[in-house]
This record gives sequence, structure tokens and C-alpha cells, in this order.
Amino acid sequence: MAVEQLRGARRLVVLTGAGMSQESGIATFRDAQTGWWARYTPEELATPEAFRSHPARVFGWYRYRAVQALAAEPHAGHRALAALERRCGDGFLLVTQNVDGLHQRAGNREVVELHGSLHAYRCAACALPYRGHLPVEQAVEAGEVAPPTCGVCGGYVRPGVVWFGEPLPQEAVERAWAAVAACDLLLVVGTSAVVYPAAYLPALARAAGAAVIEINPEPTPYSTHVTLAWRERAGRALPAMIEALAALGRS
Ligand code: OAD
Repeated sequence: MAVEQLRGARRLVVLTGAGMSQESGIATFRDAQTGWWARYTPEELATPEAFRSHPARVFGWYRYRAVQALAAEPHAGHRALAALERRCGDGFLLVTQNVDGLHQRAGNREVVELHGSLHAYRCAACALPYRGHLPVEQAVEAGEVAPPTCGVCGGYVRPGVVWFGEPLPQEAVERAWAAVAACDLLLVVGTSAVVYPAAYLPALARAAGAAVIEINPEPTPYSTHVTLAWRERAGRALPAMIEALAALGRS
């Protein structure tokens, strides 16, 4: 059924979360034993206040994650989404809450990063992009790493991600919301759907009359509202979908 819906969709949006990167070895946020929030609360690491109070702790955590993301490889599920984009052409948009850049490295081109990127930095004071030296060595053990300072105003450099309490990038929101409101099918992969405003997107798709397929080994608060909840890992479900699509195309 998932494959039939995928085959019939002219406008397809894929929404991904941390579960998408889990099989590339990147911890999710909320899985009890392994997620980041099992070790830290969001307020300790992912807020503007945390950065002001403990800049080296917060910067160190983000440098650790950036180095880890660069060392990770996209898996078969990422590659399947890149194949899906090639197949769909203009009617495809990938909206991700992930900040690791793995979708782009797998070959997806039309990617909206709702929560920013671990690989972009800017001055926390004057907002100018920062392209200078970034400490790598100390970052490997998630220790404290002093942030570099801005060459223009001397402010601390911060990661280009969205922290709790901050608005999402306007352009990203506009593009994602418009695409979801106009899609026939929303594929929701590896997100707990508890962090807003991204968590509104499945409801927006349903309200607009689109089918919603969820791929997640665990139920989420939104599972009962989706057209189909597929309890499977992204690294298995997505390649299986693409293979089945290709087989249908040959028959
Ligand atoms: P979560 O950690 O909240 O949820 C990860 C989801 O992925 C869970 O529902 C898991 O069941 C599922 N999952 C785990 N392994 C999977 C796999 N192999 N295949 C498919 N699904 C799998 O992560 P997000 O929903 O992305 O925001 O969290 C949303 C936001 O909360 C993040 O972007 C981050 C965080 O706070 C900010 O930092 C602003």
C-alpha cells in the first residue's frame, strides 16, 4: 500500500528526524538509553541562555557533534531518499530536523533544514557568518571547547542551529509549509513528532487532504492519525520501498 501511494504521488514531501541518522551511528534525542537528552537536558546545551552561561560547554558539544557527523556515512535509507528525489524530480522536497548534513551527502538536492546546520557558524552578537578556524582536536570527547571570536565585533561564534526558544529560519518555514500544504503524500521518517513547529507538519498534510505514511520502529503521538504506520527502521523500509517501486515500474 505504501508503494502504491508513493507511485501515485505527484508532489511528495519527506519529513525526517533524528531516527533517520540513527543507523549512521548518530544518537537520537529521546530514546531512553541512548539519546542525547538521557545525558543532558535541553536547557543545559541547546538554549541561548546555556551558551551565554557556559559557552565552552555548549560549543564543545556542538563541535563534537559536527566532527561526529562528518565522520558518519549516509546509510541505505539516505541513499533511497536520494533515489526517490531523482525519480520524482520537481515534485519532491525533503524537510529535515537533522543538522548533520547526511541527506545532502547522500545526494539529495532539495533539502530544507528546519533546525539549521552543524556545519554553518555565525557570530552570536552581530550574526555575520564565520568561516575561520574551528577547533577540531579537543572536540572529539565532547569536552569544553572555547568558541572562536568574530573578526569584526569580537563576539563569540556559535553554531548555525536553532536552539529552544529561537524561531526557525523564516525561508525554511515558508518553503516547508507551502510544500506540505500542496503535497499528495507526506512521508514521516524517524521523528518523535513532539517538537513544534515541525510536529505540526503531519497534521497540516492531513488537513490538506494528503496521505501520511510514518516510518518508525516505535509509535509516536501522531501514529494514530496517519494513513499508514510502518513499524520498521529507515535503513530497511526506505530501500524496500524504492526496490518495490522499481519492480512495479518494470512490470
Ligand atoms: P527524537 O530523538 O525525538 O525521535 C527520534 C525518533 O526516531 C523516535 O521516534 C524513534 O523511535 C525513531 N527512530 C529511532 N531509530 C530509528 C530508525 N533506525 N529508523 C526510523 N526511526 C527511528 O528526534 P526528533 O524527532 O528528530 O531539535 O527530535 C526533534 C528535535 O528535538 C530535534 O531536531 C532537536 C531536538 O530537540 C533541536 O535541537 C531544535
